Amino acid sequence: MPSHNYFTYSIGKKQITAVTGLGLVGFTATHLAGNLLILVGADAFNAYGHALVSNPLIYLAEAILLGMFVLHIAMAATLTAQNIAARGRRYYIKNRSGRGETIASMTMPYTGTILLVFIILHLINFKYGAHYETTVDGVVMRDLFRLVVEYFANPLYVAWYVFSMIALGLHTGHGLQSSLQTWGLNHPKYTPKVKMVSVAYGVLVALGYSGLAIYCYFLN
Ligand code: HEM
Repeated sequence: MPSHNYFTYSIGKKQITAVTGLGLVGFTATHLAGNLLILVGADAFNAYGHALVSNPLIYLAEAILLGMFVLHIAMAATLTAQNIAARGRRYYIKNRSGRGETIASMTMPYTGTILLVFIILHLINFKYGAHYETTVDGVVMRDLFRLVVEYFANPLYVAWYVFSMIALGLHTGHGLQSSLQTWGLNHPKYTPKVKMVSVAYGVLVALGYSGLAIYCYFLN
């Protein structure tokens, strides 16, 4: 007899996808807020990055973040595979409009895949990229500002970021409302407002990150 546990049931997978998705929404919001220090200047941005990596809790935060990414992708991918197996690929792709589905909801697996590629390249380029140094108020630290600005000197990289951030906006704009509904926020009175706030959040995040990439391009 097959053993069934929380993870093998669709509802468990949906709930894990939802809670990790909300955690990742929280991360994208704080990461954007931190990155906006680029607008303040090199010292502010570098000092912020240095404060983050100097805090011993960063290892715990990174482990939790990685765990959320892995669980989110694993659960969402198996749910998608189960849906395709149950209904057939053609149905999955074509016959969903007219049932209240949007471009964002129908493309979740595709925008998610773009974001996975984006994150891997992003970590290679920035987190594990060139290690320039600078001194702020007498403290030697990594010059992430220089790395980021140099990276966006290439218009192709700016275009790749804008493209990926459209995927991020679509993915979070739908994912946020879907997560909240999984957790019971489903009421005729509130659902339209939840949808509106989620879409607005997706647009804001996409514009914020894309705007920063374009701003850095013009700093060159
Ligand atoms: C203009 C856009 C962005 C800029 C300038 C930017 C900048 C950076 C930089 C400089 C780092 C390295 C930090 C360090 O090693 O101390 C970093 C790390 C990271 N970024 Fe971004 N980022 C951007 C967009 C994004 C987006 C859209 C996501 C996710 C969807 C993201 C996810 C991450 C993750 C997961 C890390 C690793 C965090 C860690 O390990 O502590 N970034 N980013």
